[in-house]
Amino acid sequence: MNAINLDSSNKLIVKGPQVASGSIKISGSKNAVLPIMAATLLTKDRVVLNNVPDLADVQTMLEILEYSGKSIKKSDDQLIIEEFQKLKGEIPYEPVRKMRASFNVYGPLTLRTRETKVALPGGCSLGVRPVNYHLEGLKKMGIESTTEHGYVIGKITNSKDKINISLPFPSVGATEHLITSAVLLKGKTIKISNCAMEPEITDLIDFLSKMGANIEGKNTSIITIKGVEELKGIEYSVSPDRIEAGTYIIMGAILGDNLKIEKVCIDDLRILLNILEEIGITFEHSEEEKYVKISKTDFDKVRNLNIDTAPYPGFPTDLQPQISVLASLIPGKSTISENIFSSRFNHIDELNRMGANIRLEDNTAIIDGVDYLSGAPIQATDLRAAAALLIAALSAEGESIISNIDHIFRGYEKLKEKLENVGIKIEFSKY
Ligand code: EPZ
Repeated sequence: MNAINLDSSNKLIVKGPQVASGSIKISGSKNAVLPIMAATLLTKDRVVLNNVPDLADVQTMLEILEYSGKSIKKSDDQLIIEEFQKLKGEIPYEPVRKMRASFNVYGPLTLRTRETKVALPGGCSLGVRPVNYHLEGLKKMGIESTTEHGYVIGKITNSKDKINISLPFPSVGATEHLITSAVLLKGKTIKISNCAMEPEITDLIDFLSKMGANIEGKNTSIITIKGVEELKGIEYSVSPDRIEAGTYIIMGAILGDNLKIEKVCIDDLRILLNILEEIGITFEHSEEEKYVKISKTDFDKVRNLNIDTAPYPGFPTDLQPQISVLASLIPGKSTISENIFSSRFNHIDELNRMGANIRLEDNTAIIDGVDYLSGAPIQATDLRAAAALLIAALSAEGESIISNIDHIFRGYEKLKEKLENVGIKIEFSKY
């Protein structure tokens, strides 16, 4: 994959309306593989990861691991991560700037190198994104942090044998970072309450447990870890990406003709499928055969959406922009409240430019459905907004030009091929 420049002004030209018909195979989960890759720092043994998606964010994390001293071989969807040299406890700003999840190497790297200097992640288009929950929890585990000039300096100090941490909010990243940093605190018991319970955390816990970690409370909000001496290298296959799957399922409800989304984990999609069913959208699905098949909705026959994003098992914030496109085409009034991020409505203005009728009141989008959207020049501000605008442009009458489209490569593997495989034509352009 050519290096993706998230700051470039690559554009996507989309002529609508189009119909998606055929099969899309879902790739490994971006938000599961990133914390798992950070956790490979905990062992000097060889780790083999399969079903790894070919994404800009995975490339960024790969570069960070190589920067810290790991040797990585990548072939198709497999990463072989090995260690032949002393790890380096320093991560510069550039990779962390590109991807906030890079910060999750801070804990494991400090445990290995005893002293680190890691760039602090900045905010992004979703709003201010501090890491205070991470640093407060790590401090209790004996990782002392001082911040200077945009970097965190980490040092190992002592800690109690029994450590209790209660997260002020079920932060996904903080939960993953603290679990990953606790597993090697030999002889100590660490209890973390108010943990996030996203499926990606279950995947991380399964990975760490297979390496020999002692973790109890999987799929609950209270995780108890008994630190062990060391973790061994393993081979592990990453679970399917529920947000990629959800994105294509929503696309199918808007412009599908028997669109089959395959290699999904139905359990992880329950909240989305239940909501679609509740408003009268029909689809086929099989847990055993791991697929959902869905066609374009008769918008006059479905009820309105009223959604609140929430930590798992609530409606995922990462599908909020995409489902707002569906809501914009359902006659009558729908509401979508964003309760996770302080500013995740950047796509709303762009949808209104396409003829949607959406207004914002505090953290709620109030959507009056329209008959159709019209193509327009629009711009993507972040990964999921880019996906939402692509779906909108594919359903719209006329041509859309989506600028800053490179965001979409952070989370959607082989996008052009997967769409062409279901009859969708899109064209990238530099100008
Ligand atoms: C993860 O981000 C995901 N990223 C996000 O997906 C997802 O939207 C988010 O979880 C919520 O589900 C990855 O897994 C790589 P949080 P994360 O910590 O961990 C506040 C995508 O599109 N907070 O759960 O950064 C924070 O500001 C991305 O794939 C603090 O205040 O999310 C936010 O308002 C976007 N202090 C809220 O908690 C902290 O120390 C939830 O953030 C940490 C978080």
